[in-house]
Formats: sequence, structure tokens, C-alpha cells
Amino acid sequence: MAQTTLDELRQLLTPRGVICGADETARYLQDWRGIFRGQALAVLRPGSAGEVAGALAICQRAGIAVVPQGGNTGMVGGSVPSTDAPTALLSLERLDAIREIDTIDDTMTVEAGCILADIQAAAREADRLFPLSLGAEGSCRIGGNIATNAGGVHVLRYGMTRDLVMGLEVALPDGTLWNGLRRLRKDNTGYDLKQLFIGSEGTLGVVTAAVVKLFPRPREHVVALLAIPEPAAALTILGRLRQATGDRVAAIELMMRVGIDISIRHVPGARDPLEAPYPAYLLVELATPRADEGLAALFEGLLPELMEAGLVLDGTIAANEAQAESLWALREGITEGLQHEGIQLKHDVSVPVSRIPAFLAAADEAVARVSEAVRIVAFGHVGDGNVHYNLILPARLDAAGTEALREPLTHAVYDTVSAFDGSISAEHGLGQLKAREIARYKTPLELALMRRIKQALDPDGLMNPGKVFADG
Ligand code: FAD
Ligand code: MLT
Ligand code: ZN
Repeated sequence: MAQTTLDELRQLLTPRGVICGADETARYLQDWRGIFRGQALAVLRPGSAGEVAGALAICQRAGIAVVPQGGNTGMVGGSVPSTDAPTALLSLERLDAIREIDTIDDTMTVEAGCILADIQAAAREADRLFPLSLGAEGSCRIGGNIATNAGGVHVLRYGMTRDLVMGLEVALPDGTLWNGLRRLRKDNTGYDLKQLFIGSEGTLGVVTAAVVKLFPRPREHVVALLAIPEPAAALTILGRLRQATGDRVAAIELMMRVGIDISIRHVPGARDPLEAPYPAYLLVELATPRADEGLAALFEGLLPELMEAGLVLDGTIAANEAQAESLWALREGITEGLQHEGIQLKHDVSVPVSRIPAFLAAADEAVARVSEAVRIVAFGHVGDGNVHYNLILPARLDAAGTEALREPLTHAVYDTVSAFDGSISAEHGLGQLKAREIARYKTPLELALMRRIKQALDPDGLMNPGKVFADG
């Protein structure tokens, strides 16, 4: 970076808003999974939306690419540089103020660097719920959630991040700050511009703040682990639960036995609460904002019927908050535990909900045709048709053996997804991991339209190059 540009940035972003040393920048330049590492001329840490916009203007004038970063918990390498272009990494971590909570509009105005768990806690204090919830909630930041259109465990009930955002403030690549922080439940004045930025993975601009929706806080919830004979049972159980509880299902997560074993191996203190191992499991959470609905009794009343029908083989209902947390830890522990199981090919995919069982069977067959030695760890948000179809490669493989399997396995999974009218990224985005693959699975027309949008908003191609579009 030319010294004058660096001086300009230092002047704008004082104090300590520009970091250049290798030791200090290292943590920003490697992703959570430890598989993507990038290079940057500097890490920029603006302290206000105005500073973000100013930094973008300086970078654009100097032809420097900008990679926005929130909590750096993304799964697809979107938040670390991936090209050789002169690049600045722009961390939003200092923009962490909650600007306003309005309990009449039921909205919260937050800066992009707010940690998701802090937003949830602030909503709770205001006797409200902010329902976005994912394993990384203690470190991911709302700007990153918005940029990836994060999903998580409550999508079935409350929708994706896209459905939870009412307004946005965005710094555009040329340094213009767009204030779209509206809190309107209805607004049909032409194109819904905020939706362009939601899920755009930092390739169109930098989200600096957002207005998010709040909901009534649950007064009663039931958390249970159910052993089931096969994934198909999950869909029947989901239908029955929705009907019997008046649609109070807040989460329903599918886990195959292998996932439970991984959690038990890696989560300190984790144990199987059931006496015998079973082929598959459902983690169910029911929640209601009313205290007098008797959800627990409704659920317990339904269980014998589900067991008689052979849909549920065994189960346990959390008797208190600590037990609920330990059941959730079994589920969340799979993602963390997978990190210690060997080389992992992650496939965050979706198909129509009804096709999940057939998809799983077909994908298992397709993978086995490539390699019988690969371990399949499928789990996830079954109520959304979203499976984390993760593959662990055999430990005995050397680097060449690993590389030889990577593409055939990925295509085996994605081609199956495609045959089931699914998506190769349900909630994690494309980042750099899937930027090349998407050309194989999206139609040429869709890709061309996406490129036109990119060209219109970021004509110099400086926003997060190499992400979403492989060529940057
Ligand atoms: P980062 O990783 O920092 O960035 C992600 C992308 O957004 C990058 O492309 C980056 O350039 C861009 N970006 C970041 N901030 C901004 C901004 N302010 N403006 C513009 N672009 C920006 N994801 C799910 O969807 N569902 C899950 O259930 C889920 N579970 C997870 C569990 C674990 C244990 C982990 C580690 C991750 C999980 N994830 C999940 C993935 C990840 O947490 C989400 O993608 C999250 O939304 C990323 O937020 P972040 O702040 O860490 O973003
Ligand atoms: C999760 O739901 O835990 C993550 O999105 C999944 C993953 O590890 O693939
Ligand atoms: Zn997930």
C-alpha cells in the first residue's frame, strides 16, 4: 500500500484503527475452520459508520480491494482475502453499539459489529426475543449474519436473517453511506434495496447498521431428544407436533448416530441421555409466548401415540434449563467436534423438506460409489430441508489422495442435490469455497443477472473479490 494511502487511513481511523504487523493481523487472516489463509496490506478497524465509508472511499481511490469481516466464523472462507490483489481487511468489530430498542415498533437498531448473543441478551432484557440463533452466536456479528443471510435453528418458526431485517445502513464501495434504517412493516416503493445486500457476502457494500425485528419472549419451552428409526420419521413427527401444538415448534434438528458419537467424544461432560444407541435422533424445541398453554403436557400426551406408531423409539424431555442446555450441547457439539475428526468436506445443502429422506439415501449411495471409506456425518435443520452433509476423509490418505477425492465427492453430493431440485448452499453462502462450483449449478441467466448487479454496484470489482464469483 502506498505510504500516502496508509497515512490517509491512519489519519481517518485513529486510534489504533490501522494494524499492519504480522502477529497482530494473523487472527484476522485465517478462517474459523483453519483452512483458508489470506494476505492483506493492513487490517482496518473503523469506529463508526462514517469511518467505514471514509475508508472505502480511500481504498477505492487507491484501487485497493476490501474484505469485510465480522466475527470471522463463516464456513466458506468469505471473510478472509483470497486473491493476490492489494487488499485491506475491514473489521467491523468496533462498531458494536446497540443504538435503540423500541418495544412499540418491536425493533432494535444495532451496529454491524454487535455480537449476536449480545443482541439476544438485550432483547431478553427488554422482555422480547431476537430469534436468530446458531452455534457461533457467542462470536458471530450481526453484520456477518446479514451478509450471509444466516439461518440457524429457528428458521422454521421465524425465518432466515432476511426475514428479520427491516432496515439497513450500508457503506457503498465509493464511500457513499446509504441510510436505509427504516422500520416499516410495509413499504412498496419500488425495489427492496436492502434485500440486495442481505446475503451478498460483502461483495456489494459494507453493512454498518441494521434495524431488526423483535418478537414476544417465550414463557414456556420444552426441549426433548427423541430417538427415531430413520430420517423419514422426522417429517411425520414434525407434522404431528405442529398440528398438536398449534405450530409451536421452534426448532427440530436431525442427527444421525455418528453425530451424537462425535459430540460425546469432543464436548467435555457430554453423555448419551438414552440407554441404548439408535439410528437417528431429533432434538425438538417447542416454545410459546403464553405461560398457560401447557406445552409440556401436550407434548407428553402425544409421545405414547408416536411410540406406538413406531415413529419414536425412545426419548427424554429436559426437566430444567441445565438439562435443556446439555441436550442442545449434543447438537451444537457436532459442528465443533467435526473440527477434530480429520479432513472434512462440508456440504451445507437444501432440498424440498419432503425429499430429505430420499435425498439422504441417494447421496449416501453416490458417496459410496466414489469411496466406501468416507465417513458421512449428516445432520441439521430438517424442518427447513437443510442438511449439513459433511464427509470425513480416511485418515490414512496423503495430500495427493485427499485431493483426488475432493472433487469427485463434492460433485457426487452436489449432483444429487441438483437432481432433487436443491441448493448447494442453504445457509452458509458461497464465499471462496463454492465460488467456482456455483457456475455448475446455477443457470447461465441467473449468473448473468447476478453479475449485472455486481457490476452496477461495484464497477471496479473491489468488494470482496474472489467471493461468490470465482474470478473476483
Ligand atoms: P464473517 O465470518 O466475519 O463473514 C461472513 C461473510 O460476511 C464474509 O463474506 C464477509 O466478508 C461478510 N461480512 C461480514 N460482515 C460484513 C458486513 N458488516 N458487511 C458486509 N459484509 C460483511 N451459519 C448458519 O447460517 N447457520 C448455522 O446454524 C451456523 N452454525 C454455525 C456453528 C458454528 C460453530 C460456526 C463456527 C459457524 C456456524 N455458522 C452457521 C456459520 C457462521 O457463523 C455464519 O455464517 C455467520 O452468519 C457469520 O457471521 P460472522 O460475523 O462470523 O461473519
Ligand atoms: C450448524 O448448523 O451447526 C452449522 O451450520 C453446520 C456445519 O458444521 O456444517
Ligand atoms: Zn446450520
